[in-house]
Amino acid sequence: MKNKFAFIGHPIDLNHLYGLLGIWGKIAKRMPRDLLYKITLNFPPYKYCDIEIESLTKDIASGYALICPLLPYQVAFLEESVVIKKIIEVAKLAERLGAKIAVLGGFASIVGNEGEEVSKNVNIAVTSGNTYTACLAIEGIEKAAEKMDLDLSESVMAVIGATGDIGSICTKIFSKKVKKINIAARNEKRLNEFAEVIRDYGNCPIEVKRTRDAIKEADIILTVTSAVSVLIDPEDLKPGCVVCDVAIPANVAKEVVNIRNDVLVFEGGLARYPFMENTNSKKWKKVMPPNSVFGCLAEGILLTLEERFENYSLGRGNITEEKINEMFAIEKKHGFGVADFFCGYKLFNDEDIQRIKGNAFKKKEEVNVAKR
Ligand SMILES: NC(=O)c1ccc[n+]([C@@H]2O[C@H](COP(=O)([O-])OP(=O)(O)OC[C@H]3O[C@@H](n4cnc5c(N)ncnc54)[C@H](OP(=O)(O)O)[C@@H]3O)[C@@H](O)[C@H]2O)c1
Repeated sequence: MKNKFAFIGHPIDLNHLYGLLGIWGKIAKRMPRDLLYKITLNFPPYKYCDIEIESLTKDIASGYALICPLLPYQVAFLEESVVIKKIIEVAKLAERLGAKIAVLGGFASIVGNEGEEVSKNVNIAVTSGNTYTACLAIEGIEKAAEKMDLDLSESVMAVIGATGDIGSICTKIFSKKVKKINIAARNEKRLNEFAEVIRDYGNCPIEVKRTRDAIKEADIILTVTSAVSVLIDPEDLKPGCVVCDVAIPANVAKEVVNIRNDVLVFEGGLARYPFMENTNSKKWKKVMPPNSVFGCLAEGILLTLEERFENYSLGRGNITEEKINEMFAIEKKHGFGVADFFCGYKLFNDEDIQRIKGNAFKKKEEVNVAKR
């Protein structure tokens, strides 16, 4: 049997769940919410589809998308032990199907210390996929800043969810590149301790702020929280800023593209593989974002191509710069890279970005005139 990966995904929101349920989705739509939540809690995990991905080296990684029917809202508010038990059930299904590595997608990784608990209960490798997701967030921000003519060394950055697994390694790396970083999360004590660590690590000032204050003065925003609701009000964004929203579900409302035509907001942490156009499975496309693949899953695919069946990204705060660099090298070898910029279903091409820059310039002029 070929080496296989298994992606453990979950519905991102109710609409996504209805889509995944196919014809049953119509019935689910009419159900009272409480009943639907009870059903998803008791629904067994299932194999959604098979998939094969071809590398630039012509090697093939094949695997399965498995669905854990819990919604992010349930992951956040149910007892952690209940959620972990549910994810272990899916990881065991992955093992029975012959997968050699299970990738914990989105909210499946934030419980049980980023996969550590799940890994203790199965005999296959487990990864949260957070190392490659962080690589893609970094790559996306650098590319977006360049397109928006933002010089990193002159830019103020805000990281929302800075103490998290992905947020913390990104803060470390950008603390050597930008002018200043504002960090925000919920737990203030942890945030202040983390600020001390970063002050020793990088070369820029670090300020602990509330989310709203952190983003107001930022030219570059990375938002990577486990919040289940929208956190960033489009009205607070500075004209011409770049926002990389890695969170699933998103921290910035998708309507931002209709409200602010002077900022570049994109869904981050997403990859492209070299032969994207060969992926014709409609079912697969239904679980993936448009023309891209979740960074966590892409990590599982890359590890499968490398035959590295190990607990690569596991436990919160264990991602190092060395691992980030290793992942960048593996990405390059197999022809993977950061996905195109999009928000909701709006794809931004170079012309759109020029327009955003023009709108930002006008808005800044208006603000200057008003100040005089
Ligand atoms: N695009 C992809 O492929 C991909 C891959 C993996 C993960 N993700 C997504 O990335 C996000 C982060 O994952 P992670 O593994 O890094 O999570 P994590 O380690 O659990 O960290 C979450 C961070 O969010 C903060 N936070 C939670 N609620 C918040 C709120 N209301 N306001 C401000 N900060 C808040 C937490 O701070 P406290 O501890 O103080 O609450 C923590 O700093 C999740 O949404 C996940 O689904 C995406």
